[in-house]
Amino acid sequence: MKLQNDLILRTAKGEKTERTPVWLMRQAGRVLPEYRKVREKMGGFKELVETPEFACEVTIQPVDILGVDAAIIFSDILVIPEAMGLPYQMLEAKGPWFERTIQNKADIDALHIAEGEDLHYVLEAIRLTKKGLNGRVPLIGFAGAPWTIFSYMIEGSGSKTFSKAKKFLYTNPRLAHTLLEKITESTLNYLLAQVKAGADMIQIFDSWAGVLSPEQYREFSLRYITRICDGLKAETNVPVTVFAKDAFFARKDISEINCDTIGLDWTMDIAESRALIGPGKTLQGNMDPCLLYASDEVIVNETHKMLKAFGPLRHIANLGHGLYPDTEKEKVKLFVHTIKEFRF
Ligand code: CP3
Repeated sequence: MKLQNDLILRTAKGEKTERTPVWLMRQAGRVLPEYRKVREKMGGFKELVETPEFACEVTIQPVDILGVDAAIIFSDILVIPEAMGLPYQMLEAKGPWFERTIQNKADIDALHIAEGEDLHYVLEAIRLTKKGLNGRVPLIGFAGAPWTIFSYMIEGSGSKTFSKAKKFLYTNPRLAHTLLEKITESTLNYLLAQVKAGADMIQIFDSWAGVLSPEQYREFSLRYITRICDGLKAETNVPVTVFAKDAFFARKDISEINCDTIGLDWTMDIAESRALIGPGKTLQGNMDPCLLYASDEVIVNETHKMLKAFGPLRHIANLGHGLYPDTEKEKVKLFVHTIKEFRF
């Protein structure tokens, strides 16, 4: 089906567009009272993710309510460890938790390499959402980067330092690579299946990129992201975004891989990033989500500043990380509206 609004796809490919497109990380979620209503009806986060009709409903909500230029499929990066054999729970106010974690070679050998069909509920949610969107805006599919997924598999939850995951890299680098290989293969299978099911664009989230040194980042993260990008490019023509949170040191390296868009967080200077990355990639971001706690006037001024700093070409407006749950919906709407009204 032909898309009525393909601004994001054209911007990702480097075409000049009539205005800067916008979507928001974590746009489907707790900032919307409409989401909380569906979530209460379902009981829990996982039930929502695993029931395609409801995942579809909350995926489309921000398109209707916030007016964003893309939808992102409602799911989580942790469905991959689960499909490989490590089930997760989402604890209220605590976040993800794994009952079993990876400790040794036997644990890694026992892991299954996921096929797309292992995540049939996500694929079904994508198919339903494509129908429901009816060509209004593109649908973004996603997965975690292998390093970020590895971290959760070793730690079993979030962490301030990710010291257990990093200890594994220093004490058992060969085994670490074995595990990263398995995650990479599973993730590529899953992303290819998402594209087949209808995803128009893919984003890879490397949320814990920032705990690695530049050298470790190249060896244990970028190597595998590169493989996923190459695998996607070999079999599809959807644009690919790489978002490596806090990895300011890796911007130049990321500019050399087979992706279309690079996500920036708010600590990364816009002009410096463009100079490091060069003109060949689209940049996405990078407003501090905390701006949305400010007055309307400050939000409009800062948003204009951001748009001018990126300029009219190759920019997809977004935040530098996901929306915080206590953000007011009206402030989010103002941010989106300000971007959509702006012209160079
Ligand atoms: O709107 C969207 O962006 C699409 C859905 C989406 C979710 N998680 C839903 C979710 C996406 C793209 C993710 C990615 C994700 N999940 C990442 C990468 C992006 C990032 O934030 O760095 C990570 C690290 C996770 C793991 C995860 N999931 C954590 C750490 C948490 C708890 C903390 C938090 O931010 O809420 C989750 C839960 C989660 N994933 C919620 C949502 C809407 C909140 C669950 C709820 O209470 O309803």
